Amino acid sequence: MTEVKATNVHWHDGEVSREDRNALLKQKGATLWFTGLSGSGKSTVAVALEKALMQQGHLCYRLDGDNIRMGINKNLGFSAEDRAENIRRIGEVSKLFVDTGVIVLSSFVSPYREDRDAVRALHDESDMAFIEVYVNVPLEVAEERDPKGLYKKARAGEIKNFTGIDDPYEAPESPELVLNSHELSLDEEVEVLLNMLKERGII
Ligand SMILES: Nc1ncnc2c1ncn2[C@@H]1O[C@H](COP(=O)(O)OP(=O)(O)OP(=O)(O)O)[C@@H](O)[C@H]1O
Ligand SMILES: [Mg+2]
Repeated sequence: MTEVKATNVHWHDGEVSREDRNALLKQKGATLWFTGLSGSGKSTVAVALEKALMQQGHLCYRLDGDNIRMGINKNLGFSAEDRAENIRRIGEVSKLFVDTGVIVLSSFVSPYREDRDAVRALHDESDMAFIEVYVNVPLEVAEERDPKGLYKKARAGEIKNFTGIDDPYEAPESPELVLNSHELSLDEEVEVLLNMLKERGII
């Protein structure tokens, strides 16, 4: 649990609402949370979806593991505690974007169910859409792809606490969507995602 140190703080309301901003942008802010093993395709899918949404006139923004760890979360490592804080902060940042009316594409291994559920709860309590997308591939496929050469390093013992090797990945129990990226093409994945966003009234 996060220790709350801020006391005597009061929320200051504005005169422009989330609904006003959604109306301005002609879309509904929402978080798409891509979770899955390293190499499952989270970033690849998010990049392709971002491009497709932009072409259709929709504003979205990608939050991506390493990018965030190079900035706001550069003081966090990969222990369970730091991973939890990493995800908590990203959840709060996602919420700020959703409140702005933006469609957030968050791509993080986020291996622990409890941490993802905490981000979902944060969205729920603010009445914001949280869509968990499980990018699913067998470990063998992810390891075969190894786009960053990380599995090789983890197998050689050069990286500790690597998800799937010496750290667990807890698959979502009831994600809004599962993408089997070893069975679908990238174009098919984008089509599934666009249809889902339409069905949910986000675009
Ligand atoms: N259908 C597919 N969907 C997504 N990626 C695919 C697909 N088929 C093959 N790939 C390849 O799989 C790799 C996925 O790598 P990517 O960096 O997107 O994974 P990631 O889940 O973001 O990993 P990490 O957690 O390390 O950031 C890429 O090299 C991509 O080209
Ligand atoms: Mg990635």
